Amino acid sequence: MNQQEKLHFADDVIEGLSASHRSIPCKYLYDERGSELFEGICDTEDYYVTRADIALHEAHRDEIAEAVGPNAHIIEFGSGAGIKIRIILEATHPRAYTPIEISGEALAQSVEALSEQFPDLEIRPLQADYTKPVPDEALTLDPPARHRVVYFPGSTISNFTHTEAHEFLTRMARIAGPGGGVLIGVDLIKPIERLERAYDDSDGVTAAFNTNLLRRLESDLDATLERDAFEHRAIYNEDRQRIEMHLVATRPTKIELDGKRFDFDTGDSIHTENSHKYSIEGFRALVKGTGLHPVTTWTDPDRLFSMHYLETDLTP
Ligand code: TRP
Repeated sequence: MNQQEKLHFADDVIEGLSASHRSIPCKYLYDERGSELFEGICDTEDYYVTRADIALHEAHRDEIAEAVGPNAHIIEFGSGAGIKIRIILEATHPRAYTPIEISGEALAQSVEALSEQFPDLEIRPLQADYTKPVPDEALTLDPPARHRVVYFPGSTISNFTHTEAHEFLTRMARIAGPGGGVLIGVDLIKPIERLERAYDDSDGVTAAFNTNLLRRLESDLDATLERDAFEHRAIYNEDRQRIEMHLVATRPTKIELDGKRFDFDTGDSIHTENSHKYSIEGFRALVKGTGLHPVTTWTDPDRLFSMHYLETDLTP
């Protein structure tokens, strides 16, 4: 992190810990160590999401390809070098592929891996934050593709609130444009025990991922705190249909940062992440008014996970 980034990080932490509902923005979970741990989560027995998403792609690859159609410009939010994007590229024969990714390193790695496997594919990477406006020139192709399809697997949409998700889908619709579509993975509502186990796996990888944030406060921001006075907790909030991740104080403790002091009683928490769960109908309802409409929905064979193909309301 450079000095500027550290200042932003410190400001965000101070603002988050000063509120009555204490939180820290989830993007700070993903430093190098956090990103490694996140990959570790995907390999745990208890975190079913990644395996179900892959099983869905494998089970429905031909129908997905039919919905997307040939000669599309596939625009992925986040960079993929893994099994899912390979299935999509193999099955759909796109005109071009644009991964949009903030980390230059992750982007370069995925472009390298994919250009080896798909030597004839035009890959047009874009290093950018996909939550910010994307300049249209960066996506213009000559000759143009038949249409654009924004691809957003992994249920990352779950990590937005409903309002944010609605705005985000509206932006995706605009990027997809006339005749275009959105192919998006969405984790399904299921029994609480299964959900809570997925976000508090028995190998302790998710706990390590969450508590890594405390280590960052110490190492990146020189905060003073007692790391062992906090523990990872994942609870399903039934009213809001979401998993919430918290760091909960197990004894009275404090965090000191930039001359400010934040006191915690036993049980006080810092909210660090959400993962919203949807029924198929619930997600279709969320899409209303975004400029997109649902066309097809698939689930994996165990019905744990869903993927929607949405089309823009604008005809070409
Ligand atoms: N979007 C995925 C999910 O909500 C992956 C994810 C994001 C995640 N943040 C996480 C998984 C924190 C575990 C913990 O499931």
